[in-house]
Amino acid sequence: MSDTIFVLNGPNLNLLGQRRPEVYGYTTLHDIERMVRERAADHGFDVEFMQSNHEGALVDEIQRARTRGAAIIINPAAYTHTSVALHDALEAAELPVVEVHLSNVQAREDFRHRSLIGAVCRGIIAGFGTDSYRLAVEALRKK
Ligand code: DQA
Repeated sequence: MSDTIFVLNGPNLNLLGQRRPEVYGYTTLHDIERMVRERAADHGFDVEFMQSNHEGALVDEIQRARTRGAAIIINPAAYTHTSVALHDALEAAELPVVEVHLSNVQAREDFRHRSLIGAVCRGIIAGFGTDSYRLAVEALRKK
């Protein structure tokens, strides 16, 4: 039985800290990775952490998680609102999935209100900045 949480990050999240800090804050993705690793270790999980700007690379990583992971935390970024491929890959993974967003997507533009991913997730955490990732780890902790 795997103890690895795959934490996947979609396009432009490599720019966190520089990109629209009034929306996404000044924390970098590297800072988020460190925090997630610490929280996950507290609950006995290893972490595989990745970011890609490419939809297919994210699909490949979800397929790796399918055979090697215990769960997936994913911030699909803009692909949240467009990607049937990510939906299908997550559905096929048959793992607990938590969708996370730094910003409250429901309070933003209309095109961000719809998630193609949410239907194949255990739950969605949005709007708590970097805490969204921490809360996702808490949601997956072994009870
Ligand atoms: C985001 C919200 C998305 O709508 C957006 O495209 C992002 C980041 C968030 O974390 O708030 O890139 O997923």
